[in-house]
Parts: sequence; C-alpha cells; structure tokens
Amino acid sequence: KRLILIGPPGSGKGTQSPLIKDEFCLCHLATGDMLRAAVAAKTPLGVKAKEAMDRGELVSDDLVVGIIDEAMKKPSCQKGFILDGFPRTVVQAQKLDEMLARQGTKIDKVLNFAIDDAILEERITGRWIHAASGRSYHNKFNPPKAPGVDDVTGEPLMQRKDDTAEVLKSRLEAFHRQTEPVIDYYSKKGLVANLHAEKPPKEVTTEVQKALS
Ligand code: AP5
Ligand code: ZN
Repeated sequence: KRLILIGPPGSGKGTQSPLIKDEFCLCHLATGDMLRAAVAAKTPLGVKAKEAMDRGELVSDDLVVGIIDEAMKKPSCQKGFILDGFPRTVVQAQKLDEMLARQGTKIDKVLNFAIDDAILEERITGRWIHAASGRSYHNKFNPPKAPGVDDVTGEPLMQRKDDTAEVLKSRLEAFHRQTEPVIDYYSKKGLVANLHAEKPPKEVTTEVQKALS
C-alpha cells in the first residue's frame, strides 16, 4: 500500500507509523525525522532547513521534494510506503503525483488525523523521542518502561527543539494555512479516511486498521 498520514503537530502520525509499518511491511518516510537527522549532522540540507524548523515554519518545497524523491528510490520502498509529514503543501502534493505517475503508481489512501488544536499543547510539551529511530513517548500518555530511556535500544531520550508551546503556535498556523488545503486536494480524489485522533493510541490504531482493510 502507498499511504499518506496528514495531521497537525502531535496528532499521532509518528506514534501510529511503526504499527502500520510492521503490519504491512512498508517503508516509513518521515520528512521531519529526515530533516532533523540532516540538521544534527550539519549537512548542507540541514543547514538550509534549520532556521525554518526552529521557528516552526515549513522548509521550502524544493528541499523536501528532493528528499522524498531520493528516499522513494530505496528498494525497500518499491512495494509500498508510509509518508509521514509529506506532502504538506498543495505544490508538494502535485509534485508527488508527478513522481508516482512516472513510476506508474498512485496513492491508495490518505489517513487524516483529525483532532482539536486545544489537545495538542499537552501532547507536544510532554513528548520524548529516540532521535535515531524517531520513536516517540509521552511522559503521561505513553511513558517509556524506564524514565528517559528508549524501550528498544536502551539509549537516552531527548526533547525536540520545536516542542515548546510558543513554536507550536507557528506550527499550527502553518498546518491550517498550508496543509489543510492538501486534505481537500485528496478529498476531491476520494482518498481520505478521517480518524478520531483525540482517542487513546490503541483506539486510533483500530481505526487505522479499519481504514486500511
Ligand atoms: P514533523 O517532524 O513532521 O513534525 P509535525 O508535523 O509537527 O508532527 P509531530 O512529529 O510533532 O507530530 P506527530 O503527529 O508525529 O505526533 P506523535 O505521534 O509524535 O516536522 C517538523 C518540522 O520539519 C516542520 O515544522 C517543518 O519545519 C519541517 N518539515 C517536515 N516535513 C515538511 C514538509 N513536507 N514540508 C516542509 N517542511 C517540512 O505524538 C505526539 C505526542 O503525543 C507523543 O509524545 C505521543 O506519545 C503522544 N501521543 C500520540 N498519540 C497519542 C494519543 N492517541 N493519545 C495520547 N497521546 C498520544
Ligand atoms: Zn512526527
């Protein structure tokens, strides 16, 4: 399957991705994770992306389309993929359609993580991530087995630089202004499944499974 996960910051895209990935053996392409890795490694891409990310604004379409174009060539992505955090503008969605058309494929489903803005601050400010894998935890809603430590690798967890209440405001603004039109774009194609992303993680997983069956 070829899937897109769309939703505001903290709506649960990264939390549900590993579960979908395991069930369908898909590759998980998260532009945010890839950009954070580039920033940490101080690559030319990371240097260009850092400022916008720290402010909670979107990185340029050309940069992220380039990353996705490259990543989708991986052999593991040929049978299917989960796009987490891409496309986030209508231009990105159009470029993606062109990319897939060249390969003779198309998107099967768009999962819309619908949720009220008011819930998101608590989720974002309580999040802890394992940087290398992108796994996320929450000090209240999804605590790791040992505090501050990744369940799988035992490595330390960290907080994202953009996970403050203040930067969240710009990220939400970018979502409403630039990414919500992408949901309309795919709704017109009849591809969108709406999830109740405010429910507990397990219930959201059940909704995901229903949407994909
Ligand atoms: P990105 O990394 O994509 O961040 P985001 O979209 O803001 O999404 P998040 O990762 O914050 O949310 P999530 O839905 O994955 O939440 P999670 O599952 O972790 O992008 C970062 C930046 O990169 C952007 O601001 C931009 O600058 C740039 N960028 C990336 N892609 C781009 C693109 N295509 N174009 C341009 N720029 C781009 O959950 C959050 C927390 O809540 C966790 O602690 C989790 O444990 C908890 N939680 C999850 N589900 C539940 C639940 N059901 N109930 C209770 N708690 C839950
Ligand atoms: Zn995420």
